[in-house]
Amino acid sequence: SLIERGEYDHFMLKEIHEQPESLARSILPYIDQATQTLNLGDVADKMFAGADRAVAIACGTAYYAAHTAKYWFEQKARLALETDIASEFRYRNPVLPQTGPAMFVSQSGETADTLAALRYCRQNGTPAVAIVNVPESSIAREAAAIVPTHAGPEIGVASTKAFTAQLSVLAVLALNAAKARGHLLPGEEVQAVKSLLALPRKVTEALEAQDGIRAIAETLTQSRDVLFLGRGRYFPLALEGALKLKEVSYIHAEGYAAGELKHGPIALIEKDVPVVVIAPMDELFEKTISNVEEIRARGARVILISDPAGIKAAGNRADHVIPMPEGDEISLPVLAAVPLQLLAYHVAVAKGTDVDQPRNLAKSVTVE
Ligand code: G6P
Repeated sequence: SLIERGEYDHFMLKEIHEQPESLARSILPYIDQATQTLNLGDVADKMFAGADRAVAIACGTAYYAAHTAKYWFEQKARLALETDIASEFRYRNPVLPQTGPAMFVSQSGETADTLAALRYCRQNGTPAVAIVNVPESSIAREAAAIVPTHAGPEIGVASTKAFTAQLSVLAVLALNAAKARGHLLPGEEVQAVKSLLALPRKVTEALEAQDGIRAIAETLTQSRDVLFLGRGRYFPLALEGALKLKEVSYIHAEGYAAGELKHGPIALIEKDVPVVVIAPMDELFEKTISNVEEIRARGARVILISDPAGIKAAGNRADHVIPMPEGDEISLPVLAAVPLQLLAYHVAVAKGTDVDQPRNLAKSVTVE
């Protein structure tokens, strides 16, 4: 069937705005709404209960979803999750988990390197779990278990709604693993489920920052480099924010762990270099803000993406602020994706690039 842009100028914008629905579709199948508990079946119990460690493999944006999940699996389930880029993993003769699964994250389910990495795991007897958006894809067919995302067809080459759907399903998996491993008390489970169920509404709220984001985006069109910084679970979001900007606006962007600032990227800081800092209030907030002070002292222009508590604590230490709703350690990284997508989109529109079909990029990379 024909997929239309409707009222939107681009598929990318339509897909960004579809996220309340695509997230609800991706989360609800894995929740028992009556009891507010997780409902993934016994797949998770079997795969994660006795796992020594797990691996998650993907390319591009899907890799950053896996990278975010590393923090959730470690913190919630106390399970070490090694993440790797498929093209590295497949040629490395990697040491596989002894009793844990390998997860493969892919929108299309056809990415050549991810498929090859899956085959390597299969040949070596490691159970493969596919987190895919296309259930009839090669990766889905060859995996031992499928935990689909239901983002719906994604037309824009730069991934948006598929990314947040991947995050939500990986969160469900991490919470199930936590439960199976005895690290999630019943009260905590209900809390986590409530937080997942609130995501669609909170994404709607995050989308309301659009006008402010567009105004900031219009000040970035002449920038040569843009830096994205985050710590902990927001580090992968910094990487994804930089990837998104680079893909659609062709501006050089780099994502960095905020703690690495001193080990290189600070050399790029001069007057007016834009630095996007993703820092909702958490245990690492003050550390990130002290990085902000360092770069501002060198004349950088700081664009802070944060929740109400973080914005309040930052005071006047940022040049621009992009507000996002409050949440917890699972929902906040998902919510942070929204302003990053809108920022990239509006910079691209202001520059007049081909937003839905950026030069040289393909939606699905089925050859090496
Ligand atoms: C291409 C697309 C990206 C995507 C990556 C992985 O590079 O342009 O948007 O993240 O492939 O694709 P997959 O279908 O495996 O998620």
